[in-house]
Order: sequence, then structure tokens, then C-alpha cells
Amino acid sequence: MTKNSMLVLGMMSGTSADGIDIALVKISGAPPNLKIKLQGHTKQSFPPAIRTEILRVAEQNPLSPGEFSQLHARLGQLYAEAALNACKKLKVSPRKIDLIGNHGQTIFHQGQPVNFLGAKTASTLQIGDGSTIAALTGITTASDFRPADIALGGQGAPLVPFADYALYRHKKLGRISLNIGGIANITVIPANAKPSDVFAFDTGPGNMLIDSLVQHFTHGRQRYDKNARLAWKARTGESPVLSELLKEPYVLLPPPKSTGREYYGASYLKKVLQMGQRYHRSQNDLIRDATLFTAASIRFAIEAFALPHSKVDQIIVSGGGAKNPLIFSLLSDFYAANGIEVVKSDHLNVPTDAKEALAFAILAYETFHQRPSNIPTATGASGPAILGKISHALPR
Ligand SMILES: Nc1ncnc2c1ncn2[C@@H]1O[C@H](COP(=O)(O)OP(=O)(O)O)[C@@H](O)[C@H]1O
Ligand SMILES: [Mg+2]
Repeated sequence: MTKNSMLVLGMMSGTSADGIDIALVKISGAPPNLKIKLQGHTKQSFPPAIRTEILRVAEQNPLSPGEFSQLHARLGQLYAEAALNACKKLKVSPRKIDLIGNHGQTIFHQGQPVNFLGAKTASTLQIGDGSTIAALTGITTASDFRPADIALGGQGAPLVPFADYALYRHKKLGRISLNIGGIANITVIPANAKPSDVFAFDTGPGNMLIDSLVQHFTHGRQRYDKNARLAWKARTGESPVLSELLKEPYVLLPPPKSTGREYYGASYLKKVLQMGQRYHRSQNDLIRDATLFTAASIRFAIEAFALPHSKVDQIIVSGGGAKNPLIFSLLSDFYAANGIEVVKSDHLNVPTDAKEALAFAILAYETFHQRPSNIPTATGASGPAILGKISHALPR
């Protein structure tokens, strides 16, 4: 590492609202020669009351301006605590950290402009105040990465492709980076790609629908289908629910496209529960349907929108969904038969849990150096943008 390398903490809390993933990363250089070295990673759960409120708000339930302000500040405090706890766990003094990159918690995402008070408007909001994080940690903090891209007509998502390109670009291998969080997304990086060859989009639900079914059926006692235990108890064979889900409009929509809890949240759960009743599916059957839907919608996206444009040799999987053995085997068995290798990102020294946090460390580093890091072919923006805001800090 060169002298002017920076030690950056990247923090990610995704649509699953399960908590904060934190990656400690040493970064130096500049694109196309960024040097990125993961030093360690950890995670911190949200306190249950916070998680419940995040989910309530992200489902677009009412929130007064006062409550909104309070939640923004409280999350800022929690991110600051998470950063300081991570320093302790990873045995590094906060004074040694040059920069934090915090994604924040998405509570609204409307990537496609819609009519609002007479004007076509798109917007996205990630909360957890950056100035609070900077002041409480004494570490300069980059936050709010998405709005600049939206302002240029992009969807503000996905932003991880910049990091995928830096981490996975290969001279000879065409690669897809697949992250299965609450929502699933892919980044296609053709062999020897230029940044403008990269494209990316959200394929549809990742774990979100599975999680909501499990939480609904267990009255919140279980948060997710650990190791696909419930799905594996279900009936196998044809499912009318799966066939219906695969016809739904988001899956078929060509990219650029992005989605979130607004679409695949509570109202979607209701729709799937109704389908379950109509077709006499048991609880476990429906959990299996949702799991198969995740895998099938990812496959459809790859077949319809990636493979026609690019030769792919490898699919690199990250996010919590990489640990769902049913999703993983549905993908790896299918693609093995088609000559494409499916591997967990751990094989490329990127732990599945740390991938997105690592990405936000990289984006923060670029923002700090006043360089753009959206990929317009991924977001649909009219051009490059420097992403986010910087809150400068006095060391504590
Ligand atoms: N062992 C596992 N088996 C099945 N699913 C898992 C496992 N571990 C994590 N997950 C899934 O991953 C989700 C968290 O993924 P994550 O990448 O953190 O998503 P997000 O970025 O939306 O927070 C959990 O809610 C759960 O559905
Ligand atoms: Mg998470």
C-alpha cells in the first residue's frame, strides 16, 4: 500500500433491515488502478424497536415530521455506535480511520419519475444523519450517495457496480456479480470491460418475500428461513403460484430498473398469501414458492437481459441469500449444466456478508477524492456524478 492509502469503514444496512454490516478497508490509488484490501468485517443488529419502526416507515406508513427528524438522528447515533464498536472488535483505533462511508437506511425509493404536484419527480431517501456520525466518531463521513444520480435522470441505483468493476473486472472472464439482499441485483462485467460496458439492475426480490412470509407465519418469532429448512419441507413439483409470480410486470420489465420494499413489501405479501389460499398451498409450500421465485427471477434476468449481450463465464454471489442453500443450488446446478461457474464471493476474498459494506467504503473513497462513481449504463443517468455528501469531523 502506498503512503497516501486511506483506512475506510464502509457501512451497509439494506432493505432486509436486519442490521448494519461493516467493512474495514485499506484503499489507495485511483481508477482504473484502485488498490483495495479488506482488513476485517463485522456486523451489528438493530435494536428490535428500531427495526420495527424502520420496517413500518419503509412500508410507507404515516410518520410526522417530528418523528421523522427523531428517527434520522437516532439512526445517526446508532451508525456512530456501530462504527466505534466495529473499531473495538477489529482492534483499530478510531483515530486511525480516515473516512466512513455510510449507505444509510432506505425508507423510500422511487427511481422512475412519477407525477408529483404537477412535475415528474423521482427521489430516494436513505436516513441516519451523516453529520451526527462524523461528530460522534470524530471520523469524516460520506453519506447520501444516491440523490446526485437521480438528479441526472438515473435511478440512483444500483451503485455497487462501480465496486464490482473495481473488484471483479477480468481480462479473459466475463462475470456477473449477483448480490442477494432483501432485493437481488446483478452487475454484468464483460471480459476486459470498460466502465461503459458494465450494466446492472435489480432482478426482483432477494430474501424479502421469503423473510416476510416466515415472519408472518411465525408471528415474528423467526425472521428468515435459516438454511432453507422450511422450504425443504414443502411439496416439490409444479407450483401454480410460482408460474403466476413469474408473469408479474417487474420481472419482465427491461433494465434499467430498480425496486424495493415499496413494491415487494407488505402489499406484495398480501397478494402472495391470497394466491396461496386460492391454490391451497401450505405455509411451507408458499415459502418454497417464494424461494423458487427468487432463483427463477434471477435466472430470467440473466437469460433475458445479460446473456444476449455478453458472454458470461462466472457468477459471483454475495449477500445473505448466498447462504440460502436452496437458492444457491438452484442457480449453481442450472448454470453448471450451461458451462457457467457459480461461486460465492468468498472465493474471491470478498466475504458474502461484507460485500456491500466494502462497496460503500470504495464509493466513499471516490467521493472524498471528488471523483464520480455512478455508472451511467447501470443507473440510466445522463452522465457521471460525484455521489454523496461529506461531513467533516474534528478527531475525538
Ligand atoms: N443461513 C441462512 N439461510 C437462509 N437465508 C439467510 C441465511 N443467512 C442470511 N440469510 C438471508 O439474508 C438476509 C440478509 O441479507 P443481507 O445481505 O444482509 O440483506 P440486506 O442488504 O437487504 O440487509 C436475511 O434476512 C435472510 O433472509
Ligand atoms: Mg443486511
